[in-house]
Amino acid sequence: MSRQSLSKAHQKITELSWEPTFATPATRFGTDYKFDKAPKKDPLKQILRSYFPMEEEKDNRVFGAMDGAIRGNMFRQVQERWMEWQKLFLSIIPFPEISAARAMPMAIDAVPNPEIHNGLAVQMIDEVRHSTIQMNLKRLYMNHYIDPAGFDITEKAFSNNYAGTIGRQFGEGFITGDAITAANIYLTVVAETAFTNTLFVAMPSEAAANGDYLLPTVFHSVQSDESRHISNGYSILLMALADEDNRQLLERDLRYAWWNNHCVVDAAIGTFIEYGTKDRRKERDSYAEMWRRWIYDDYYRSYLIPLEKYGLKIPHDLVEEAWNRIINKGYVHETAQFFATGWPVNYWRIDAMTDVDFEWFEYKYPGWYSKYGKWWENYNRLAYPGLNKPIAFEDVGYQYPHRCWTCMVPCLIREDMVTEKVDGTWKTYCSETCAWTDMKAFRPEYEGRATPNMGRLTGHREWETLHHNRDLADIVKDLGYVRDDGKTLIPQPHLHLDDPKKLWTLDDLRGINFASPNILLNQMSDADREAHIADYKAGGPGGRTSAAAAAFASA
Ligand SMILES: [Fe+2]
Ligand SMILES: [Fe+2]
Ligand SMILES: [Zn+2]
Repeated sequence: MSRQSLSKAHQKITELSWEPTFATPATRFGTDYKFDKAPKKDPLKQILRSYFPMEEEKDNRVFGAMDGAIRGNMFRQVQERWMEWQKLFLSIIPFPEISAARAMPMAIDAVPNPEIHNGLAVQMIDEVRHSTIQMNLKRLYMNHYIDPAGFDITEKAFSNNYAGTIGRQFGEGFITGDAITAANIYLTVVAETAFTNTLFVAMPSEAAANGDYLLPTVFHSVQSDESRHISNGYSILLMALADEDNRQLLERDLRYAWWNNHCVVDAAIGTFIEYGTKDRRKERDSYAEMWRRWIYDDYYRSYLIPLEKYGLKIPHDLVEEAWNRIINKGYVHETAQFFATGWPVNYWRIDAMTDVDFEWFEYKYPGWYSKYGKWWENYNRLAYPGLNKPIAFEDVGYQYPHRCWTCMVPCLIREDMVTEKVDGTWKTYCSETCAWTDMKAFRPEYEGRATPNMGRLTGHREWETLHHNRDLADIVKDLGYVRDDGKTLIPQPHLHLDDPKKLWTLDDLRGINFASPNILLNQMSDADREAHIADYKAGGPGGRTSAAAAAFASA
């Protein structure tokens, strides 16, 4: 088929678009954006006749790599430390993918442009493919990895886990609320254009360094569709810019979307890359170095900043603050420590850090050891059952954190926590911007203008409040994170599966009470609450209580 006839075919597709008269379309998520004045062009003329052979070829390569991984005995060489984190990652990631698929009809309804509709329909097929090949990858890991426990329950565990809730918040951001906020600015303009670089490029490279060459094949197959999605997003962004009235909403949404993506993706992917790896060659990039190159230089400087020529205000302050959190405030390290603190309620195993890891962290992040080293030594010391409780319930100077009601990552940078009474309850936020998101952006009115289509952050979002004042053994049993013998836990704070004496069971958790920091906060008198908040904000780094923080500061 010649180039010319491809264009003709594409032209024909747009002519075939029609509005059904036989049914009234149900609009679940509308938009407050206006597109009356928008130009109607699709820069990436994709038609299915050329699309399907290309995707078929990509799928064939993925299947070939899967076959090769099994024949090549990849599972004998892959690092356990790395593979364990895949139980979490591969439980989360198919959900944002299928949410991206579901976001496409929302965007199609919201944007009156048949050319774009075609591009969005193609993206929908892409996203279904992504979700499917990732689920298939997970199935292969489950069948071949030495410890399938955890992989086999990922769909259920994703929905009831205290880390899964962060991923759920992320994926639901694509499919709820204002259709353009969700499906265009949050999903495409920010998540796909910026953060897939660390998700689908940086992470696969770390996987390969840990002996897993299958994950890179799958995720590069995903990432190579992303240019099409980025192009879809940019087209809609340009359409929105044609109407001056949209600018206020665009600026609001860029702030929300940038910050929320940073909170979630940098927490998760940063942890997988930096605490899931065994490869400590110093010439390899740290997460911060990759972030600087791919997100700061490539996305911020070459994509976001040029939008200023359209008169759009770019969230420079939030880009700088995200970088500041990563490089100065230990955002990734605080998150990894939180996940390790909560090991009994995970469904994967977290390896302790060793001297080799310490040296690498100190090299890449000077001062790391003084902040986090002792805690990881304690994690190692308290790794086996019998003599002590899990580390979260022993006195190591660590205070279990409050949750951020918006991004669902805890308020780990203690001094930045914001506490407000919102919709009748005291809520905690990890940052000013997360507080603004809930209190100002996700409301039916924004700066005096009606925004009826904007979503709201409601429901049983916070994991800890669901399990308040329960016995830890009952919580873990109900979550289903127990092995086939009915008592040994799936999560363990070490990798020594071969020695039964080292494996924690439900009996080791019996009698430990779990309390929700948010419920306790809401039960306090005003004076107690104020004192508690001041004390919390005086804590850190490394989750230190205020007393431990004072000792740290004077040392
Ligand atoms: Fe995708
Ligand atoms: Fe995508
Ligand atoms: Zn937050």
